[in-house]
This record gives sequence, structure tokens and C-alpha cells, in this order.
Amino acid sequence: MKLLVTGGAGFIGSNFIRYILRARPGVSVINLDKLTYAGNLENLAGLESHPRYSFIRGDICNRHLVSDIMSGGVDAVINFAAESHVDRSIMDASPFVETNVRGTQVLLDAAVAYWKERLNGRAAAGAERPVIFIQVSTDEVYGSLGPEGRFTEESPLKPSSPYSASKAAADLLALAYHRTHGLPVIVTRCSNNYGPYQFPEKLIPLMITNALEGRPLPVYGDGLNVRDWLHVEDHCRALELVLFRGRPGEIYNIGGHGERPNIEVVQMILRLLNKPESLIRFVKDRPGHDRRYAIDPSKITRELGWRPRYTFEEGLAETVEWYVKNRFWWERIKSGEYREYYMKMYGE
Ligand SMILES: NC(=O)c1ccc[n+]([C@@H]2O[C@H](COP(=O)([O-])OP(=O)(O)OC[C@H]3O[C@@H](n4cnc5c(N)ncnc54)[C@H](O)[C@@H]3O)[C@@H](O)[C@H]2O)c1
Repeated sequence: MKLLVTGGAGFIGSNFIRYILRARPGVSVINLDKLTYAGNLENLAGLESHPRYSFIRGDICNRHLVSDIMSGGVDAVINFAAESHVDRSIMDASPFVETNVRGTQVLLDAAVAYWKERLNGRAAAGAERPVIFIQVSTDEVYGSLGPEGRFTEESPLKPSSPYSASKAAADLLALAYHRTHGLPVIVTRCSNNYGPYQFPEKLIPLMITNALEGRPLPVYGDGLNVRDWLHVEDHCRALELVLFRGRPGEIYNIGGHGERPNIEVVQMILRLLNKPESLIRFVKDRPGHDRRYAIDPSKITRELGWRPRYTFEEGLAETVEWYVKNRFWWERIKSGEYREYYMKMYGE
């Protein structure tokens, strides 16, 4: 099986590529990534000469490139490519609409064209699985919850940020391509991920790396916003199951019952690193900041037998250790363009 993985040099995409090459000897991967500020080939170090892996630097909005790659032979597309940081979408939504919405549309169009051609050509041979399209989405499309309840696949879409609105638009396009063109599409909506190779603008790596540098830990508002944390490898295993056993046209929520208020996560990190809570700084809240996310994953558990393997305590301890051991990886990132962005956001 040949997979086209888009955005494979980012956090989840690179973890997925490492995972799937290890778990499935019959799978090969083409990684298409534009290498924005969030894409980093060091996330894939060691795979350069892997016989089942190849990398193409390019944009998912580039119609010709995407069609060329698909017609070279692809069995499934997993679309991770996105602008993914809420704060950046508040500063400028344009790249979010461009990549997350238009880029997804370009991929879907190319998949429809390739899929039709392939099915027509192979109708007599039958049996072979047509190209399938997995749109990797987020629980943020559902908006914010009150203190009770969980998001199910039937929850209404009420995105709060330009980021989540662009992801919701892409989900709807993907599902519409299933209904209109019969493209075998699946949308997955996962809760907040954490783990190795996460860009240090996101909460957990930001707190770990700032603590390691002895810098203040900026916490939005009262710190009581709740996120439902899932280790990235549990997300990758869920995507593997969806890829091989998911039902086309369906949405699958993915979440590991890992609800924690942000402040509790920050305190756990400080304890693991043996650093003082005096490093915590409460900063002005993010506009439109969702109060609580919580995923009901019973559909993927019931239909595909998925369950997370990591508890949050184990996963966080392992992640903290990874950032301690891989200082060279994040120090380089934190000294580049990211430094200017950080100063603009937090000022110190
Ligand atoms: N991080 C999370 O907690 C989380 C949770 C649920 C869903 N998601 C979704 O999972 C996907 C991956 O998230 P992530 O955290 O790994 O993001 P990331 O920002 O770490 O990586 C995104 C990758 O996409 C690439 N990219 C951006 N624009 C591109 C374009 N136009 N063409 C080709 N490549 C492009 C970047 O270079 C980067 O490598 C996203 O779609 C995101 O919405 C993320």
C-alpha cells in the first residue's frame, strides 16, 4: 500500500510516518510537505534512505504537483497538512483559509479524478481497494463545552477561532465529496495531542522548554481551560485502524479521557522537572478562548476496537524526558523566527 501523507514533517505527521513504517512492513510513504515554520525534516531524521519512504517538498495547494503525485500511484491520502496554531490564526487568518480549506479542496479534487480513472480502468479486475482519503481534523470544530458533557460525532459544529473554522470548512468539503462524488472519505476529529517533536509554541512543549530554560511559563487567563489530552502515538494507532478498517463517509472522534485544566498540566510538568511554581505567569486570556473540550470516543472503540494505551501521567513523564534528552532539537527552533513571534505574544 502506497500512502500519500501530507504535512508529514510536522508534529503528528512525522510521528505517524515513523509509526506506520515500523508497524506495517507492507506500507510505503510519500511525504508531501511545504516545510512552513512548523515543518522540520529533523523530525524524520534517520528515514532519509529508508526504502519505503520518500519526501517531496511542495504545497498541497499546487494542483499540478498533487495530481502528478497521485497519478504516480497512491492507494490512500492522509491529510495532516495545515496551519495549526490558534494564536497565529487570530493574528492572520489568510494562510489558514488557503492551506486548510483550499489545500484540502485541491487534494480532494485530485483524489476524485484519480479515483474515477482508476476504478474505470480496473473495473474488470475488481477487488482492489480504491484510493481512500482521511481528513485529519480536530475536536476544536465543535467549539466549547460547559462543565458537563462530551463531543460526539453528532455534536453541532460551532468553531470559535479562524483555525477551527477553517478545519470545519475542510471537514464539510471532505464529507460533501463523499456524498457528491462517492469518494471514500473519512474524517477523524482528535483531541489535543502531546508527545515528541511537537513545535514549542503549543502548551506542553512551551511549558517544558521554558521551565528547562528557567524562563516564565505564560498561562492564559485563570488557567482553568480544560483540554482532553492524547498521546500522539495513540492518535497514530487510531488513524491506522481508520485507514484499514474505517467505514467511508464516517466521522470518528478520537480522545483518551484525558481531561485536565491547563494549570494542572503546567504544575505536573514543573513537578516532573523539579522546578518551582513561581515560574508560572498568568497572562491576558486569548480572545474566543474555548473553555472546555472533551471527546466521547465510544464510536471508534465500539467499531474499530481502539483504546488509548498511554495514561496521561505516563505519557507526560515520557514526553518531558524526551524534551530533556533532545535539547538540540528544540533549542534550534526556539532561536529562529519563532523568537520574534514569542516576544510579540508574551513580551519576555
Ligand atoms: N496538534 C494537535 O493537538 C492536533 C489535534 C487534532 C488535530 N490536529 C490536526 O492534525 C494535523 C497535524 O497537526 P500538527 O500538530 O502535526 O501540525 P503542525 O503545525 O506541527 O504541522 C503541519 C505540517 O503541515 C505542513 N504544511 C503547512 N501548510 C502546508 C501546505 N500548504 N502544503 C504542504 N504542507 C503544509 C507544515 O510544513 C507542517 O509540516 C492538522 O491538520 C491539525 O489540524 C492537531
